[in-house]
Amino acid sequence: MKMLFVGDVVGTAGIEILERRLYKLKRDLAIDLTIINGENSAVGNGVNRASYQRLIRLGADVVTGGNHSFQQKGCTSLYDEAETLLRPANFPEGVSGRGSCIVDVFPVKIAVISLMGTVGLEALDNPFFCVDKLIEEADTPNIFVDFHAEATSEKKAMGQYLAGRVTGVFGTHTHVQTADETILGGHTAYITDAGMTGPELSVLGVDTEIAIQKMKYHCPVTFKISENPAFINAVAVEFNEKLGKANKIERIIMR
Ligand SMILES: [Fe+2]
Ligand SMILES: [Fe+2]
Repeated sequence: MKMLFVGDVVGTAGIEILERRLYKLKRDLAIDLTIINGENSAVGNGVNRASYQRLIRLGADVVTGGNHSFQQKGCTSLYDEAETLLRPANFPEGVSGRGSCIVDVFPVKIAVISLMGTVGLEALDNPFFCVDKLIEEADTPNIFVDFHAEATSEKKAMGQYLAGRVTGVFGTHTHVQTADETILGGHTAYITDAGMTGPELSVLGVDTEIAIQKMKYHCPVTFKISENPAFINAVAVEFNEKLGKANKIERIIMR
């Protein structure tokens, strides 16, 4: 089987390029399952009902999250209702929504886990202990993890920690695609960061001039998404669904 993992979708430009290109990309690569990180898909960051529904309609099976998951006011009811919208699993108990789900690609079951790092980000529960528990509970060898983290060291550590235990670990959050895609231990597809689906000529999706103003003068600014043309950053993984083992990982940049 083949799965596609799409890096952080930024704003309307990110959604629009997927609406134009994803259907054909999935068909050309014979994709069976698509996971999209949607933590920046709403205008002003976060996810809302409109951006979630657009991602599902354009072909996402699961939408994963990160530090911006709860940025939109009133989004908690959406998290309670939408079974294929994930927020990081290591949020404290009592937080709305869920951090993992099972997708039924009949007759194959695939578990998807959204997890967040704690180095340089919020002090959530320890992601290593959290993922151990979720793997133990997963009733399938096919497990994909979106590890939303700032530090490359934490992502590398998580990849190697999960080598041989899950089908794929894909880093997100830094919005820059890394060139270190590999199959760890002959089993686990891994990339430190899948990248960003949004305006290419920008600062992580934000309008360049505004980002420079902020960094140069340290004054408050209102972030605006860049209006430059968007690109798609993703990885495609071929895996043996009987063993939950990845055979091949391929980086995708589509302009
Ligand atoms: Fe992001
Ligand atoms: Fe993030």
